[in-house]
Amino acid sequence: MAAKSLRRAGRVSIRRFRRSDLKERIRWPPYTSPLYRHLNYPLSTFIERERWLFTRITNAGRMYFAVEDEHCALIGEISLREINARARTSRLGIHLVSHKRGCGYGREALEAFLDHYFQDMRYEIMFLDVAAYNMRALRLYESLCFEHIGSFWRIENSDTPIFTDERFADIREHFRKDRGLTECRFLDMRLSRRDYQRQMLERRRAALARERKAD
Ligand SMILES: CC(C)(COP(=O)(O)OP(=O)(O)OC[C@H]1O[C@@H](n2cnc3c(N)ncnc32)[C@H](O)[C@@H]1OP(=O)(O)O)[C@@H](O)C(=O)NCCC(=O)NCCS
Repeated sequence: MAAKSLRRAGRVSIRRFRRSDLKERIRWPPYTSPLYRHLNYPLSTFIERERWLFTRITNAGRMYFAVEDEHCALIGEISLREINARARTSRLGIHLVSHKRGCGYGREALEAFLDHYFQDMRYEIMFLDVAAYNMRALRLYESLCFEHIGSFWRIENSDTPIFTDERFADIREHFRKDRGLTECRFLDMRLSRRDYQRQMLERRRAALARERKAD
């Protein structure tokens, strides 16, 4: 049975994850950049697939949502972790299939999801953390009124040659070596219900302006 669409924005809709999503998810091409390799979940064995499904389908302290494009294809996933049902807060994760990045789908998916989170789920605050070099994600969050609340260093587990390979020269400033380990600077951000409402007003104003221009 098709899962109910929870919210739509532009070309995308979001819904809860379902078991049958695995079929499409397996076909996603892997991310080639070593910085995003952690998103290439191993899904070749039965155990790996069941583990992947377990966190997404069964309530394991997290919630997973599927992002569909205008052709009803699975193009991304959104997760909530560190869910505090009493304080109405949680931590966001989002990623798209690699070839759909940079086309505005992320913005639409997040707009739809924020509507669901703040209006339907009645949450108060959304937290997230983002690698300081991830300009695309950072730009997206800032334009949706997320505010900066701090930063921290996280060990970079991949063997990416950040300090020696010239491909990484532009983002090197966001990394450091500490006791032989490579660490990456992460930024903590949050979006409150009040700032979400401000952002909603901005979106409405922009939509009105677009309509007027089209008339
Ligand atoms: C982060 C992610 C969800 C953003 O979605 P997206 O569809 O690729 O992004 P959009 O096309 O909506 O663009 C978002 C903003 O980044 C800008 N942008 C696009 N490509 C960019 C690039 N290469 N460098 C810098 N900014 C860029 C866009 O112009 C847009 O800003 P604007 O609205 O002010 O013009 C998606 O790129 C992704 O899944 N990335 C891999 C996983 C990841 O990084 N997840 C986030 C971890 S915190």
